[in-house]
Amino acid sequence: MTTFDVRADALDGRTFPPGFVFGAATAAYQIEGSVDADGRGPSIWDTFSHTPGRTFGGHTGDVAADHYRRFPEDVALMADLGLSAYRFSVAWPRVLPQGAGRVEQRGLDFYRRLVDELLGRGVEPWLTLYHWDLPQALQESGGWTDRDTAARFADYAGVVVAALGDRVRHWSTLNEPMCSALLGHRSGQHAPGQQDPVAAARAVHHLLLGHGLAAGALRDAGVESLGITLNFTPMTPASDSVADVDAARRLDGQQNRMFLEPAVHGRYPADVVADLTAAGAPLPVQDGDLDVIAAPLDWLGVNYYFEQTVRVGTRPPGRPTSFIGGEDVVELDPEPPTTTMGWGVSPEAFTDLLLWLRDRAPGLPLVVTENGSAWADEVDAEGAVHDPERVDYLLRHLDAMAEAIERGADVRGYFAWSLLDNYEWARGYAQRFGLVHVDYATQRRTVKDSGHTYAAVLRRHRETS
Ligand code: FCB
Repeated sequence: MTTFDVRADALDGRTFPPGFVFGAATAAYQIEGSVDADGRGPSIWDTFSHTPGRTFGGHTGDVAADHYRRFPEDVALMADLGLSAYRFSVAWPRVLPQGAGRVEQRGLDFYRRLVDELLGRGVEPWLTLYHWDLPQALQESGGWTDRDTAARFADYAGVVVAALGDRVRHWSTLNEPMCSALLGHRSGQHAPGQQDPVAAARAVHHLLLGHGLAAGALRDAGVESLGITLNFTPMTPASDSVADVDAARRLDGQQNRMFLEPAVHGRYPADVVADLTAAGAPLPVQDGDLDVIAAPLDWLGVNYYFEQTVRVGTRPPGRPTSFIGGEDVVELDPEPPTTTMGWGVSPEAFTDLLLWLRDRAPGLPLVVTENGSAWADEVDAEGAVHDPERVDYLLRHLDAMAEAIERGADVRGYFAWSLLDNYEWARGYAQRFGLVHVDYATQRRTVKDSGHTYAAVLRRHRETS
């Protein structure tokens, strides 16, 4: 690998705490492919992506980055980059093809091989149990709208920890339950593609209940590093009008506080409960649920990409809201430069978010489990991928995080999204988030400038801490 210096002025004078974890993240359905291999059952994302009109260009995860077959090569890449950790998810339908009942040993064996490869290369595995790929069989009985799915999730957690608990130290239950619940059941832009506020509210609560029950199963098995990953989008009102301020409060409530408060403090925010009830979509809470949901955590996973400015108004046609009772709220277009996802770039909001979490969840260590950006990358004639925008995004967000750490946020790790270009859900293969470029025709991997830059940051960190 060629050496690559960190841009001279970047991260000047910044250091990260000793032992700080630097890694990269992926998710099963986005990279694995081999959807029929070794007894894997279908997930809601197979069904959704194969339904005409649901995804960009009809793209599916059938092949993706072919990681299921190429994982040794990918782990070698991680080691070359100097990553100390790798965050990946286990596909529930590989382990329990029907979601419950019969365990598919070949599915577990794949993850055991992956973990052993990582450990052999000195890369610490950080395992996420659920990154959106619910077994289709469970969807047939209601999916996350059905309370029973929470119990099935805990059973699945028990199966995986029994198989891998001897070699994986860091465990996470859910990735971004906000997306599973609200993008999956309110806006319908993600699987299972419903647009039903009542279903969405039920999914919110059952995902959180599943988290709490699974956390219990992991603790019973002796797990000592346990977290949940939430995605935070800071919401700013477009004006100080009462209506715009209230619009920002409502969206912040459902995007950020509706997941943080129950997981960390065992309560839903009163204003969110009132908003959902007023919208006719109450949270189906039963006695004792919130105690289960507030299972002790060792760290909170924080995913951050962009901030959002909102106002009241008429939504553009064809853009259903992701929020319950959010039909009268409009998201403003961000200031340029915007990524190919159409997302803005706001490192300052990242610092503010980490400081907000320092105050909202005092005493709880934070781990940035995802942060990254999509750009239109190409391999040039020399075989290099120059991605100055991603380099800039990466360095500015690392700097913003260092700033938050200096101001007292207890951040223990950072995982870049993503190791590889991959299947970006409904946006298909058109969105490239990787530090490593993937040519989908040949599956050839090429480390981008941003990957080289990240490796240089990590080298410097190792040398100075
Ligand atoms: C997050 C998801 C991740 C990826 C990034 C861009 O919401 O967790 O799988 O799609 O966005």
